[in-house]
Amino acid sequence: METIDWKNLPFGYTKTDYNLRCIYKDGKWGPIEVSSSEYIDIHIAATGLHYGQEAFEGLKAYMGKDGKIRLFRWEENAKRMILSAKGVIMAPVPFELFKEALFRVINLNRRFIPPYGSGATLYIRPLLYGSGAEVGVKPGSEYTFIIFVTPVGPYFKGGIVPLNMIISRDVDRAAPMGTGTFKVGGNYAASMRAIVAARNGGYANTIFLDAKEKKYIDECGPANFFGIKNNTYITPKSESILNSITNMSLIEIAENMGIKTERRPIPVTELAEFEEVGACGTAAVISPIAKIFDPDDNKVYEYCLSCVPGEITMKLYKKLVSIQYGDEADPYGWISIVE
Ligand SMILES: Cc1ncc(COP(=O)(O)O)c(C=O)c1O
Repeated sequence: METIDWKNLPFGYTKTDYNLRCIYKDGKWGPIEVSSSEYIDIHIAATGLHYGQEAFEGLKAYMGKDGKIRLFRWEENAKRMILSAKGVIMAPVPFELFKEALFRVINLNRRFIPPYGSGATLYIRPLLYGSGAEVGVKPGSEYTFIIFVTPVGPYFKGGIVPLNMIISRDVDRAAPMGTGTFKVGGNYAASMRAIVAARNGGYANTIFLDAKEKKYIDECGPANFFGIKNNTYITPKSESILNSITNMSLIEIAENMGIKTERRPIPVTELAEFEEVGACGTAAVISPIAKIFDPDDNKVYEYCLSCVPGEITMKLYKKLVSIQYGDEADPYGWISIVE
């Protein structure tokens, strides 16, 4: 059995022992099958390949100091996957099936759960796609649900470093009445041009604006956006962004810390007023933002001038991570132990 260098694990894919698969056919879900193959056999006319009938989720399992394996708000991922499936007319994965597959795949791959203190975690990727053959544009009649896991290293290897972002002025991620609130592959395909252009320009990622008016902040690459001013945590309200589970949790934590919260449209011009800004999501929890460049008027908004993340940002980050690893009590009922 190979040994894993937990400390140097990349934030990327590492093969594990097992994944689970389940097929929806003739109007019902079949049994969960255990596989040790990393590959799938897929029909050449599958609707997932041609018409983007696909949705996925991303969550993590954390090894605590006490040797217990913790999951963070997995119920929200199960619910969001149902919403995403319905958003592109796929058979949703029933909540109980999601739960059974999730706990089973973790238990089957226990040896890949990184030890406490390594900064690494077990990333869990549930995936649903149209596997039935169709040629005309219509929903397929067969769907495949897969759940695989992979250990991932910490997002920030040498500690948290504030990132530079560029506002995307010529690429939209999602339209107001489109699929932005669903976690479907098409949104990520739509965002690629902007993300690659940002990276080529030396930025960590891009900030998408509302597609209709280009006036308000939508999302920050594959993460939600927040800004902090006057002891208030402010995050966009938009009909084209993913409802981040990390963001909803930060809002609750902030309120319990006596920080006010607002979810409302954030005009780009308000960037000049924030004391701290950041991106939040499962991958990094919080990525503090150092600078935002707006190519429209060559304006640069600067935060954390000495390259140190803001005080409130770090308070929120530490609290959430402590709950996820079980270092602090979870007063919210967010944690499930994997027995
Ligand atoms: C587009 C997008 N927005 C926001 C998020 C953050 O969501 P969560 O906190 O549920 O991981 C993600 C990552 O899942 C994402 O892909």
